[in-house]
Parts: sequence; structure tokens; C-alpha cells
Amino acid sequence: MSSQIDHLLNESRQFPPSPEFVAQSIDDPALYERAAADREGFWADQSRELLHWHKPFTEVLDWTNPPFAKWFGDGELNVAYNCLDRHVEAGIGDRVAIHWEGEPGDSRSITYAELTDEVKRTANVLADLGVGQGDRVAIYLPMIPEAVISMLAVARLGAIHSVVFGGFSADSLRSRIDDAGAKVVITADGGYRKGRVSALKPAVDQSLADRNGEGEQQTVEHVLVVKRGGNDVEWTEGRDIWWHDVVPAASAEHEAQAFGSENPLFILYTSGTTGKPKGILHTSGGYLTQAAYTHKYVFDLHPETDVYWCTADIGWITGHSYVTYGPLANGATQLMYEGTPDAPHPGRWWELIQKYGVTILYTAPTAIRSFMKIGRQVPNQFDLSTLRLLGSVGEPINPEAWMWYREVIGGGQAPIVDTWWQTETGGIMVSPLPGITAAKPGSAQVPLPGISIDVVDEQGNEVESGNGGLLAITKPWPAMLRGVWGDPERFKETYWEKFEEQGFYFAGDGARLDEDGDLWLLGRVDDVMNVSGHRLSTAEIESSLVAHEATAEAAVVGASDETTGQAVVAFVILKESFLAEHTPEGLATQLRTWVGEQIGPIARPRDVYIVGELPKTRSGKIMRRLLRDVAEGREVGDTTTLADTAVMSIISAQVK
Ligand code: WT7
Repeated sequence: MSSQIDHLLNESRQFPPSPEFVAQSIDDPALYERAAADREGFWADQSRELLHWHKPFTEVLDWTNPPFAKWFGDGELNVAYNCLDRHVEAGIGDRVAIHWEGEPGDSRSITYAELTDEVKRTANVLADLGVGQGDRVAIYLPMIPEAVISMLAVARLGAIHSVVFGGFSADSLRSRIDDAGAKVVITADGGYRKGRVSALKPAVDQSLADRNGEGEQQTVEHVLVVKRGGNDVEWTEGRDIWWHDVVPAASAEHEAQAFGSENPLFILYTSGTTGKPKGILHTSGGYLTQAAYTHKYVFDLHPETDVYWCTADIGWITGHSYVTYGPLANGATQLMYEGTPDAPHPGRWWELIQKYGVTILYTAPTAIRSFMKIGRQVPNQFDLSTLRLLGSVGEPINPEAWMWYREVIGGGQAPIVDTWWQTETGGIMVSPLPGITAAKPGSAQVPLPGISIDVVDEQGNEVESGNGGLLAITKPWPAMLRGVWGDPERFKETYWEKFEEQGFYFAGDGARLDEDGDLWLLGRVDDVMNVSGHRLSTAEIESSLVAHEATAEAAVVGASDETTGQAVVAFVILKESFLAEHTPEGLATQLRTWVGEQIGPIARPRDVYIVGELPKTRSGKIMRRLLRDVAEGREVGDTTTLADTAVMSIISAQVK
């Protein structure tokens, strides 16, 4: 990492795309002009251009009953047909849709024609099991092609999938199956993770067992099981069915029926500020339009030549929009990888990029920082020269990680798109367009053409540039959530009540506009601290801490403080090389001073705790709520959504 890298607040560097990149890019400034002149007309154009409508729509947006939107409401389409059949009919059936690599090194390349056949067979199997329009199917699978095949087979039937991340426990699965009232569960015996088979089927068995309590209805009639891990599984006759017994034997003839644009496509659960996960509901035409549009322009997609890789699991919205729907609607070739980045060796990702000639990589800052921690000597052993574009998603990317990503992974050349969006938005909302925007490390920059976003104060008034505020989406967008499954009140309360008067969507994120009109995301507002009346962002202080040469990773929380309202408390993982040469106490003092110097005395952490690990959800998000409990000397709250539930007791012990 170059030592001259500055802190986020002083960040003023700009990286315009190279002339070569611009020359080949499909990004066109006319997109912004057209969208500004006629927003709805713009979306209608995108939808007609990017999708096949069995019955063309005549109405673009119906916003007569806010916040319940209808996009392309009188049109009809089939989502799976759009991702599959039409590409085969257009003569690109021989193009590889998915290069799949299993963790142990087995691999499969599946063409669009083959994928179409597989989905048709699977749709026939599901239809035989009684799945039809509107029925819910839970999908609990590892990152294997059958995950994508299952999603598309459900979509093809006009049914609704609810993908549950394979890392979730039986309890989480159970509550999701019950909330959605799933009729069928699709799972696997197990999948490969960190060099061994991790079982999945037992969690399904457990989630379906012991249903005697009140309100515990058993809605699941069948469990369709893919054989992947080869591990022993229990079998419930009559309920459980092996995928390999029924799918290959099923007919590959299946004509896709058209469904209304607002036909529900999927439910995806995400945690809110309260304990109970919310089932975010997405529908068909608008969602697919925005998934395809953003995938095409944000990633400057050249489907004939690009090999695209989004490292997200299918269990998250990123996997839905940027592994399944966006890339396949666009006829792209992509890589899908089953396992963890460090199995069987720490260079596995880079080896895969070299092997498949990946040109576009879309991943998360947390992954980048963990690679930084290991050091550049690992990626340097591989040929990454095919990479021409890099993407980031999930949290603000600190400029240090941004620079490392660009220099070490992107060869100092590749544009980086920092994409801001949410499970609820369905698709990317804020991002540079790589062929147009001069990138700024750490800023997600500008709303995409067709998206309207403002930074506002608590009352919904626009704030002046330079000041912090709340990110509000001021106009409905095609891929917006249509509700919270079974809970319309929660939908209204969570997202629309705050700016009810203006009719804005409240995203829950703090943001700031700079003088150039670029957006800086400041983290969730519940992570924004107020210290002596000054607004401080956890993200800003973390970025400063990570900019110190000794720091590998950092998490900051605002802990209540008698004098200052809140005080900054930092939890820091140090690089091993530094721990060998310094005492933790010495480094903690250095880091306090460092942050004070970098941002200002107000930001200087009251406490810096040197820890061995941070509490993360399975998707890699740091659970600051738990750290706040430690910082405030409380008993640590609910840890069930942590990837490793033992982490908190270790941290508590280290802090004492
Ligand atoms: C929250 C949404 C979007 C798919 C993955 C996460 C944060 C996301 C960025 C970014 C700063 C970001 C926000 C947002 N976030 N991307 N590029 N810069 N913050 O989806 O689990 O629904 O989380 O992630 O806080 O609200 P999610």
C-alpha cells in the first residue's frame, strides 16, 4: 500500500477513465440527458430495449396509491424467458452463461442453451409438485448452478422464491419458511466450504420438525435435494426427493407463460433495526428492467467478450440482481464460485481470474481489506491483466482499500465503480458510470440516470453541499420494493413515514454532497455519532484508523458518554507484523493520536481496544450494536446472526 495515501476527508484525487477505456465504453452522456428530460420515458425506453414483453405495456408508472407503485403495470412478460429462451432464439445458445468452479476444483461450463433446458426440466418438476403462480418456494443451496436454475425455474412458473443464505441456521430458515408459507424447499445434502463439506439438509430437516406449537403450520409439502456434498442425510419418504432422480428425467419442453409486470418474483429477508427480519418483496417487470439496465451500464458490459464475476452469494440481494437476473437478462458470460476465497490457498480468487480471464470483478470492501491484510505478494503471483473494471458494494469503501484495489488488482488502470444500493432498492442506485465519471476514491458519486436522490435534513429539506444529512430517494424507481411480505404497515412505517409529507423514501443512510455534487455515504444513521454536538461518522473514523499502517481492520461505535453525549470507541485488529514489534497499549495510544490528527481532536477515540476479531454477520457486515454493548459495559445482546457466535465472548475478554 502506498504510504502517501491520505485520509477520506482530505480525499481530492480524481481518476478519469483512460482514453482507451472511454473509446470502447458503451456509457453515453446522453443517458443522463434523456433521463433528466423525461424520467418515465427513459425507463420505458430501457425496458423495451432490454427486455422482451409478451404483451407490451402502455402505462409506465402508476403512483396513484403511494407508497405502492406499479411499473409497466399493464404489460406481461416472463422473467425466465427473458434470461434464457430469447437468447437461444437469438442464436447465442452456444455462449457460456456460467463457468462454475467448485471449491475442490471441479468445474462445469454451462451454455445458455443448456441452462434453458435445465430450467425447463426443473420447472416441469416443480409444476408436478404443485407449484404454480404465487406459490412460495424456499431455496437453501450452496453456490452451485442449481441455485440459479432453481430461482429461474420458480420465476418461470410465476411463483415466488425466497432464497435463504446457506450460512443461516435452522432457526432462521424456519422463521423464513413459515413467514412466507413455502410449499417446497430446494436444498442440497451439503456444499464445500473451507476445504470440507458443510451440511445443509439437516438444517432443513430441523426447521421442518417438531411443529406442535400454536400457529406452527406445516406448509412444506416437498423437499427437493441436490446431491453435492455426498454427506449422509436423513430421508423422509414421501416428502424428500432427490434432484437427480427427477430433473434429468423431466421433459425439456416447457413453454414460458406471460405474467403481469407486477407479479411477485421474490421475497428476500433482511434484518431491520428490530429483531424480526423483514421479507422484502420484489416484482417482475420493473425489477428486471433495472437489474438489466444497471448491470449493462454500470459494468460497461460487452456480452460477447466480457467474463464477469460477482462474488456475492445467491442468498443476498447482490446475488439476486448481479449473479442471476442482471447478467442473464443481458446474455453475459459469468463465473460462479462455490467456496471461500482462501480455500485451498489464499490466492484462490486470483487464480480463478487468471484461469477464466475475468474482465469485470464485483466484490465487497470487506473482502478487499482482508486481501490487503494478507499482502499484495499473493495476487502478484497471478496474471490479472484481463481485469478492466472493478466494482464495490455493501459499505463505504475507504480510500486506502480503493487505492489498493485499483493498484494491486486493477493494475493501476481499471476504473472502480462504488455502487450504493440496498436490498430494498433491488438494483444499483448510485454509482459512477465507468466510461464517463472521473472516479473519486471513497465516494459513490452520482445517482444513475433515471434515479432521483437528495441529501435532506430531518424535516426533508435539502441540505447545503458540504453538510451531512439523510439520503432520500425522491422519486419512485422501477426495482423498488413493493412491500414487506405480510406487513404493509411495517413497509409504510420503516421507509415512508419519515418523509411522508414529501413522499420521499427514507434509506436509513447518512450522506453528504461535496461541492462537485458527488455523494459520500456516511453509514447507517444509527451508526452516525454525535459527539459534543458534532456529527461524526463511524465510517470516517474507521477509514482514518485503517489508513494507519498498523491497522488491518477497524470498527467504531458511538458509546454514550456523560460529558460529550456520545464518545468514539474503536475496536481495531492490527497487522500481525506490527503486533510482533509493538505493545498493544503503545499502538492504541498511537492510533488515538493518529485519528485526532487526521480528522480533528473531536474524533479522537476515547477508547481503542485491540482485538483479534470483529463480530460479523455471515454477509460480512460488522455488528456494531454488539460492540456498542461492550463499549457501554452492558451484557452483549442477541448474537445469533453472527457468522461465529463465539467472537463476542473473546472480544469481551480482550476488552476487560
Ligand atoms: C446498506 C444496504 C446493496 C447490496 C449489499 C448490501 C450500505 C451498500 C454501499 C456503498 C456505502 C453502502 C448502506 C445500505 N451500503 N452499498 N457502496 N457505500 N454504503 O445490501 O444488506 O440491503 O445493505 O448497505 O448502508 O443502506 P443491504
